[in-house]
Amino acid sequence: MPATSAPREDFLAQLAAGVRDGSFVKMTLGKPRGPDATLRNLFVRPVTLRGAPQLSFLWRHETQDITKNFPPAEALPQIAALVGTTFHSAHLFTTARLAQLEFNKHGEPRLTYGKATGEPAATAHDQPKHRLLPLESQRWLEKLGVTNSNGSVRTGMADKHRQIHKFVEILSHLAADADLPGDRPLEIADMGCGKGYLTFATHDYFNRIAHRAANVHGVETRSALVDACNRTARECGCANLDFLAGTIDSTRFATLDVLIALHACDTATDDAIAKGLAAGATLIVVAPCCQKELRPQLTAAPVLAPALRHSIFQERHAEFATDALRALLLEWAGYDTKVFEFISTEHTAKNTMIAATKRLPGGRPGQTLSGQQTGTVRTEAAAAKVRELAAFYGVKTQALARQLGFDLADVRQRK
Ligand SMILES: C[S@@+](CC[C@H](N)C(=O)[O-])C[C@H]1O[C@@H](n2cnc3c(N)ncnc32)[C@H](O)[C@@H]1O
Repeated sequence: MPATSAPREDFLAQLAAGVRDGSFVKMTLGKPRGPDATLRNLFVRPVTLRGAPQLSFLWRHETQDITKNFPPAEALPQIAALVGTTFHSAHLFTTARLAQLEFNKHGEPRLTYGKATGEPAATAHDQPKHRLLPLESQRWLEKLGVTNSNGSVRTGMADKHRQIHKFVEILSHLAADADLPGDRPLEIADMGCGKGYLTFATHDYFNRIAHRAANVHGVETRSALVDACNRTARECGCANLDFLAGTIDSTRFATLDVLIALHACDTATDDAIAKGLAAGATLIVVAPCCQKELRPQLTAAPVLAPALRHSIFQERHAEFATDALRALLLEWAGYDTKVFEFISTEHTAKNTMIAATKRLPGGRPGQTLSGQQTGTVRTEAAAAKVRELAAFYGVKTQALARQLGFDLADVRQRK
């Protein structure tokens, strides 16, 4: 990049070069000085629309966000007209570094540099991973403390930021494979939603990215969190998103298409699965944690006894037995299940995800059916698998089985 003596022109030339060579990550314009007193920021990111590169502008006003996309040839002159006039601060993030252009009160520019944030540029390759949340999500990400006002991830929030994006990526694949109804808004519940990170992400994914109208409901016992989430949803213009105070067990949903429960402790995961099943959810996505219920019941083959003196092995043993029983009970109830690592253990230890999709009679188009996948529900063969596993571990009772009225010890099913 040839240096020029004018910081503003130098800055704009770096922006144009970044857009051209693909190193442009994002830009934030701030310190508004124009006539519109409601204007706060302009955020610019590269996006690919119908295969063509565009720059997406998110205009942040006091109470609303406005998004518009332009081809680079139209976007760059617009940005040039704003820098130093409407906005007196500009931060340009490229894969190489951060360039900061600030104008003092006399309108004199100063260009300084900082380190790159480590965020990758938008390339065709990483498009799905990094563009699954829209620019509007920036607003709640900031309010929930994940990012700061210029869109950078806050210190200590990188794992949460990654987890949110990974979750949306997984959800997009699961939703594409599920036979979700297309003739009405979807009904989605996120149970044990905590601070609502994934509830907001789910709302934005369906309503703003997949363009599937979806009513999304968070359920959480802690009313202070519920109040804060409802406030944030209102402030961020997230229509069709609400948060309800109460226990999972006490909630009533007549219809649910997607049930989500991530890290709902111990048997709260079973309560959530049972709610999803009762409401006929097409897709159930849980990431269990704190699987304590079965620990006192577990008996193991004598050969395992010396190893199970170690509490960490006991813990993993209980996790496995609990989640394997849940997956088998879901299969018995008429669902196809996948169990996989949600996000690497480097980021969180609570990383096993169970995704269950309601089996269609006759299977999905193009699906090769095994004996278990013919759309039948509650078969004796599926019940026997649950009971045999329970018997192996000495488990007599388990929360999901109880809620489904499934008797783990029913001898009729034993060989
Ligand atoms: C570990 S946080 C997980 C939050 C969120 N799902 C996530 O993964 O980011 C678990 C949340 O579930 C809530 N919770 C636990 N048991 C619950 C229950 N039975 N009913 C409703 N909320 C519950 C807790 O208060 C807590 O906020």
